[in-house]
Amino acid sequence: MTYIGTATSRVDGHAKVTGTATYAAEAKTTGLVHGSVVTSSIAKGRIVRIDVSDALRVDRVIDVLTHANRPPMADADSGYKDEVAPDGSPFRPLYDDRILFSGQPIALVVAEDPETAQFAASLVRVEYAEEPHVTEMYRRWDDAPALKAVAKPGENPFSPPKPRGNAKAALAAAAVRHQGDYYVPVEYHNPMELYGSTVTYESDGTLTVFDKTQGVQNVQCYLCGVFALAPERVQVLSPFTGGAFGSGLRPQYQVVLAALAALALKRSVRVVLTRQQMYGLGYRPAMIQRIELGAKGDGTLEAMTHDAITMTSQYEHFYRQETGWSGLLYQCPNATYAHRVAPLDLPTPCDMRAPSAATGVYALECAMDELAVALGLDPLELRQRCYSDRDQNTNRPYSSKNLHECYRQGAEAFGWEKRSPEPRSMRDGSELVGWGMATGVWEALQVPIAVRIALTANGHAEVSCATSDIGTGTYTIMAQVAADMLGVPLDQVTIRLGDSTLPQSPVEGGSWIAASVANGIATTSDAIRDELLGLAKQMPNSPLSDIAPGEVVLVDGKLMSARDPARAVSIADTMRHGGIDRIELEKTTRFPKDETHSHNTHSAIFAEVKVDEELGVIRVTRVVSTVAAGRILNTKTASSQILGGVVWGIGMALHEETLLDHTFGRVMNANIAEYHVPVNADIHDIDVIFVDEPDDSINRLGIKGLGEIGIVGVAAAVANAVYHATGKRVRDLPITLDKLL
Ligand code: MOS
Repeated sequence: MTYIGTATSRVDGHAKVTGTATYAAEAKTTGLVHGSVVTSSIAKGRIVRIDVSDALRVDRVIDVLTHANRPPMADADSGYKDEVAPDGSPFRPLYDDRILFSGQPIALVVAEDPETAQFAASLVRVEYAEEPHVTEMYRRWDDAPALKAVAKPGENPFSPPKPRGNAKAALAAAAVRHQGDYYVPVEYHNPMELYGSTVTYESDGTLTVFDKTQGVQNVQCYLCGVFALAPERVQVLSPFTGGAFGSGLRPQYQVVLAALAALALKRSVRVVLTRQQMYGLGYRPAMIQRIELGAKGDGTLEAMTHDAITMTSQYEHFYRQETGWSGLLYQCPNATYAHRVAPLDLPTPCDMRAPSAATGVYALECAMDELAVALGLDPLELRQRCYSDRDQNTNRPYSSKNLHECYRQGAEAFGWEKRSPEPRSMRDGSELVGWGMATGVWEALQVPIAVRIALTANGHAEVSCATSDIGTGTYTIMAQVAADMLGVPLDQVTIRLGDSTLPQSPVEGGSWIAASVANGIATTSDAIRDELLGLAKQMPNSPLSDIAPGEVVLVDGKLMSARDPARAVSIADTMRHGGIDRIELEKTTRFPKDETHSHNTHSAIFAEVKVDEELGVIRVTRVVSTVAAGRILNTKTASSQILGGVVWGIGMALHEETLLDHTFGRVMNANIAEYHVPVNADIHDIDVIFVDEPDDSINRLGIKGLGEIGIVGVAAAVANAVYHATGKRVRDLPITLDKLL
């Protein structure tokens, strides 16, 4: 293989750095009008009256849409259920007078230009009948009231694992115990690209929708459901996405408002949210987790309990498997898990990079660090003693698991053996130095997907699939795989994605697209090869006349025997002889359910912090992230994924926190000045290492995917390093300097 596994630069890189890769709100169209969203200033209640008269009097304002004058929308919940909707009743923008959360859209002002729309939106007067709201999540375990369990253990993929053994008795008998409560605040997605939609209204009533999304077909189906439109009347496009990682899995309300206005006015409409309004969308739910660990004196785990309380909205039942990760990761014969959920008057949370693993593993890996301290054992040594070759939840072996090698190579690259175990025992001038580590784990999923390939006699391939590239490098890995499978140069491959009219793809999420689409390309390439071979066999004196399809490969523009390169014919000649100049085929790839193995990716993260003893300022000076994620398709884009995950993990550990004013039930720091994320000055050396992890059973190409694993464990490694530096254990994130002093 020429391209798979290499550090190939992004095929869309030129478009990105020269500005031709445009966002949804930059799509060029004519006759466009602009919508500005008015949001509710209360968290719960009803709209008694909306006075839009002042707004309508502004020159160049076209209309103001509210629940009172909007065009028809679906009345059943089913009309609003998208591909990844949780149980419950999805939010419906401008549907009726009910207010479910502060920042809810309640009117759309449409004007000839965006500035006028925004100004007029400030003139809309709203009278509410306010009701009492609850927006406060319990920061302390003991403050939580009786809450409902999310689901019974084992009931669905997101419910807690089934208990095993007798955790209570084993804990009581354990030689060494640790119990800790770990808090994670509400965290908000802050992608570069603002949520925006440009809806082109065609004269025949069809809509062409440029949307910021991780799933064009999800948005297309959703719009068809909301507005009862035939699928062929809605095309959704998202060729480029300025960051998403969960926030674009579900259709966001601006696309509904833009489509609503386009249908009402029979005009093309653009709606872009402000940065502040994006804090009225989904978020990583705040949570409190209680973990109790019991070990033998030798550091092997005897018992574990992991209980989580997360939050959801009042209208949807959103939860992920916070406790599942500690369930599977370490050898431990006795364990129980529980997960409860607090419904609050806020928008429904959503997936955010490695949902549930970023947070569940944070708690587990801090608890493991604390257990290591209690045992007087090196934290890395503890992980190795509890190592499991089987998924502890299912008691299945892994299709592959090379976490051992992550520990070994990571420790070596970091210099872990030079660590002095005592907290506050390492210094660099006036700064305390701390070294911490953690394990990361994510799942390796794959989903049914369809890929179309058109291969022409002159050696060009066009590969199409309705998936997205959310910045992860999908364009590039698709081109690499197609080039290798079809035997053409990389620059002769054109990738088409982010268009709902292309072959079927689910949302790009869960780190499942690389494995799915790459194997999908392999399937369709095989079909192309088979068709070519059929033609080649009919050629006079064909060197391939008696050869089976599985023994033929496409290399350098030729069909060739895999065993004997001398037996080959050119693809161009084959097509010419067959009287065609192209072959175009579409195939769907499904992945058989493997009931015998678990499929996961793993990582080991080593972090160094330096803490100013007097000011409490923490700097993360070094991180080594070592990842086992099957075959790496592209070492360059893969490293970038892990780097980004580590940066985000540093933000989770030290910076990110949404602050709510519970009097108003509203986010106070709804901007990137006050919602802190790491900036360049916060980021120092980050070293990414991929260990070999051959996997011949997970899928044909041995791919696992790695969008999410990069963040998992990072916050714990940093928190553990802060403890090692200072001797102070901070269990609620972010670790800000006031908590250290
Ligand atoms: Mo991911 S949080 O499924 O984009």
